[in-house]
Amino acid sequence: MSEQVLLQNRRPDRPATLEEYRASGGYEALAKVLGKAKPRDLTKMVLDSGLKGRGGAGFPTGRKWSFLREDAPHPRYVIPNTDEMEPGTFKDRILVGADPHQIIEGTILAGYANQAQRAVIFIRPSYELEAEILEGEFAKLREANLLGTDILGSGFDFDITLHRSAGRYICGEASAQVKAIQGERPRPDKESHMTDSGLWGRPTIVNNVETLACLPHILRHGAEWFKGLALTPGGDGTKLFGVSGMVNKPDCYETPMGTPLREIIFEHAGGMKGGREFKACLTGGASTKLLPAQHLDVAMDFESLAKIGHRLGTGAIIVFDQGACLVSACLNLLTFFARESCGWCTPCREGLPYMRHLLLRIELGDADEGCVKRLREMAHYIDHSYCAFAPGAAAPVLGLLEYFEDEVLEHISQGCCPYKGV
Ligand SMILES: Cc1cc2nc3c(=O)[nH]c(=O)nc-3n(C[C@H](O)[C@H](O)[C@H](O)COP(=O)(O)O)c2cc1C
Ligand code: SF4
Repeated sequence: MSEQVLLQNRRPDRPATLEEYRASGGYEALAKVLGKAKPRDLTKMVLDSGLKGRGGAGFPTGRKWSFLREDAPHPRYVIPNTDEMEPGTFKDRILVGADPHQIIEGTILAGYANQAQRAVIFIRPSYELEAEILEGEFAKLREANLLGTDILGSGFDFDITLHRSAGRYICGEASAQVKAIQGERPRPDKESHMTDSGLWGRPTIVNNVETLACLPHILRHGAEWFKGLALTPGGDGTKLFGVSGMVNKPDCYETPMGTPLREIIFEHAGGMKGGREFKACLTGGASTKLLPAQHLDVAMDFESLAKIGHRLGTGAIIVFDQGACLVSACLNLLTFFARESCGWCTPCREGLPYMRHLLLRIELGDADEGCVKRLREMAHYIDHSYCAFAPGAAAPVLGLLEYFEDEVLEHISQGCCPYKGV
């Protein structure tokens, strides 16, 4: 097994306690930097580590932080994003359930680097167990002087609360998330620059919880060590890959950034269920493109996937075998996305239900080649939507049409789904 950094304290039945986390070096980074290092030194170290956001877009964390001006007003906020409503993605749930203090320490470190006063953890409603795990630790941490006023005698005050989402996918998007916390209609707002005016109009840093969990390790062991964990030059650290679908051992695996996709599926996840043949997979959750067998040797990092026109996304790998109908799989995903559109802009609000309608007709064998042409046009036209939600929603369909057009046309020529009963 490769070096476990984020999941080193994972147990089969319960989260690591505060004592167990401390025994593994937990809160050492906090003691090392609070009141001793300059906040900007932390940003520099994170920048040097090459850490890229694990929420899906892969934006460099240190760069995001450096947008926050030193003279920006207070209070400032950190929002650990634990929304995780992307179908197929479950790594953040595993991370909170394994080692909640790693996320909490990372959050306090992000708070110190950005001189914030408070964090609001935004969590998906179905993660009630994880919400209780996190909330259960706050009081212990205040008692241990690791949270609240004058943390570890450093003069730094910082506290954390938790906000349970009402449960819409769009609430995972940073600007919509801020609106959701403020009790407003959650819709993306491209005009808002979070580091100037985020939560309650104050400077705000939104980071995914896996991103935050990397921070204690970077600050304890250094930027070069973190970079060196990756297998590829552009890579950074390790990555959590949630593997599901037709594999023998569906689970969340931590491997070096840049691990070949084939190794994750065929070694870590135990290979194809029942010895069936691999057909395709989604590489980073429901809003990434279907990837065919010819690309199984791709290195799983942001750059390598981008080079072949794919995305690492959240690292949620959903595997399909030769018996799976990919039209039906895309129909399933588009049903979700059409329902979750926030409705703010027309291409997405009207386009996604139309794409779903076309896929349904193809799946039922009630389509002609004109439907495929319109589906292709719509999958590209959807790029004119206001935010990244709609292009993400169209991504699996783009993969379907690029690599599996024959399968789509077979539905039309046979007048039914050729996979029924397979
Ligand atoms: C539709 C949509 C849903 C998103 N959902 C999540 C989510 O559940 N969790 C998350 O961390 N980021 C999500 N993001 C990305 C966030 O907007 C933001 O980029 C991220 O939380 C920043 O953290 P990072 O830089 O650490 O990745 C979503 C983005 C979009 C467009
Ligand atoms: S693309 Fe969809 S989710 Fe994004 S603003 Fe438009 S309607 Fe809302």
